[in-house]
Amino acid sequence: MDYCIKNGTLVDPAAGHVGRFDLLIREGKVVEVAPELVAPDDVTVIDAAGLHILPGLVDMHAHFREPGREDKETIATGSRAAAAGGFTAVAVMPNTQPPIDSPYHISYVKEQGEVAGLCRVLPIGCTTKGQQGEEIAELGEMAAAGAVAFSNDGVPLMNAEVMRCVMEYSRLFDKPILIHAEDRYLAGEGQMHLGHWSTVLGLKGIPTLAEEVIVARDLLLAEATGARIHFCHLSSAKSVELVRAAKARGVRVTAEVTPHHLVLTDAAVDEFDTNTKVNPPLVSEYHRQALLAGLLDGTIDAIATDHAPHTREEKHREYDLAPFGQIGLETALALVLAELYHQKRAPLARIVEWMSVNPARILGQSGGDLAVGSPADLALVDLERKWQLTTADIYSKSKNTPFLGREFTGRVVMTLFGGQITHKLPDFSRPEDQRVKGA
Ligand code: DOR
Ligand code: ZN
Repeated sequence: MDYCIKNGTLVDPAAGHVGRFDLLIREGKVVEVAPELVAPDDVTVIDAAGLHILPGLVDMHAHFREPGREDKETIATGSRAAAAGGFTAVAVMPNTQPPIDSPYHISYVKEQGEVAGLCRVLPIGCTTKGQQGEEIAELGEMAAAGAVAFSNDGVPLMNAEVMRCVMEYSRLFDKPILIHAEDRYLAGEGQMHLGHWSTVLGLKGIPTLAEEVIVARDLLLAEATGARIHFCHLSSAKSVELVRAAKARGVRVTAEVTPHHLVLTDAAVDEFDTNTKVNPPLVSEYHRQALLAGLLDGTIDAIATDHAPHTREEKHREYDLAPFGQIGLETALALVLAELYHQKRAPLARIVEWMSVNPARILGQSGGDLAVGSPADLALVDLERKWQLTTADIYSKSKNTPFLGREFTGRVVMTLFGGQITHKLPDFSRPEDQRVKGA
C-alpha cells in the first residue's frame, strides 16, 4: 500500500527537514517531501496532525536470544517489540547459544529477520570463536555474509593481544568493533555499582574502574592499530573523559549510553528488584550526570537499548543469583523524551541524531533520514500523549523491566518499515483522539 502522511511535523535533521512537511510514500520509499502535498487518489492518507514524524529509530545494541534461548526472545518477538518502540533497524548481539561466530549463523539471523519482516535485523558477529576470547573468529567471512560489526558483548575480552589482533583484522573490512568494556577480575562477583548503596544493601560492588581500565586499554590499542572502535553502554565519568580526550587526538572511537543509565541510578536497587540488575550496573548520580554531559557535548554519539530479555523464572531469584539485563525497546524513546526533551535539555532533532542518524552512520547502514529515495522507515510520535507501562504494552517475550507502572509522556503511535505499517496503537484513528490537541 502507498501512503501520504499529511499535517505532521517532520524531524529529519540529516536531510535538513525540520518543520511542517508532508511525505509521499510509494513502493516502500519516500518519493516526495514538501510542506503541502496534494495526496494522489490511489494512496491512503495518514493524518499526522499533532504528531511528529521521525526517521525510524536504529538500535545498535539488542539481544534477541535466537538461536538457543527462544524462551526469552526470538528474532520475531524482538522485532515486534522493536516496531512498538518506533525502531526500524536493530543490531543484534552475538552472545546467543551457540554464539554467532560464523557466516552460517550470520545468514541465519539475517534471514530470520527478513522472515519476521518487522524491522531490519542487523547481525553482529563474535570477535572470537565461541566467544572464548582466544582464537579470532572468521571476521572476513562473517562480513561477507552480512555482519555489520563485531563484538564481545556479554563476555569481556581480557587478552589485550587478542583484542589487538581483532582490531588489526577488522581494518580490512571497515566494520566497527563494539566493545563491552569490563575487566572480569576487577568486576569479580560484584552485583551492583560499588558505592553508598552497595554498602547499605550489603551487595558486592563492581567498581567503575572495571570499565575504565578496559576503555583506556582499548583506546590505546585502537590508536596503535588505526581500528574503528565503539564502546557499548558507557557508565562512568572517567570513561567519558577518556573517550573525550581520545576523540580530540583523532582516535576512531564512538560510544553509546543506554536509556536506563540516563534515567536511573544505583538508588533504584533499593527494593532488590532484580530488573535493576544490569551490566554495567546502574551508577551513582555523579556518573549519571557525566553521562548526560557526555551525550550533550557529543562525546557519546548514540543511545542504544541493550535490550536484554530474561525469563520470569530467572529474574525471580535472589539479587545475586539473577542474570544481568533488562528489556528496553518499548520504553527507550519515552525514557529519553522524559530525561532530555521534556526537561528541555535537548531538542527532538538531537534525539533523532542519537537514536537514528548516528547509530546508522556508525554501523554503515542506510537509515537515519527520510530524504527522497530513502526507505520509508519512520515513526509517528505523539510527544504529549500520557500513558502508563503495563505488560500489555510489552511485545517482547520477556517482561523484565523496572519501569512497569511508570507514567510516561510521549509515545510512538505508528511505525512504518519499508513503507508498511508494523505497529499502530489501536486507538490511533479515533477522531476524538487527543493527538489533534495543539496541532
Ligand atoms: O545487562 C546485560 N545483559 N549486559 C550485558 O552485557 C549482557 C546482557 C545479556 O546478554 O543479558
Ligand atoms: Zn554489554
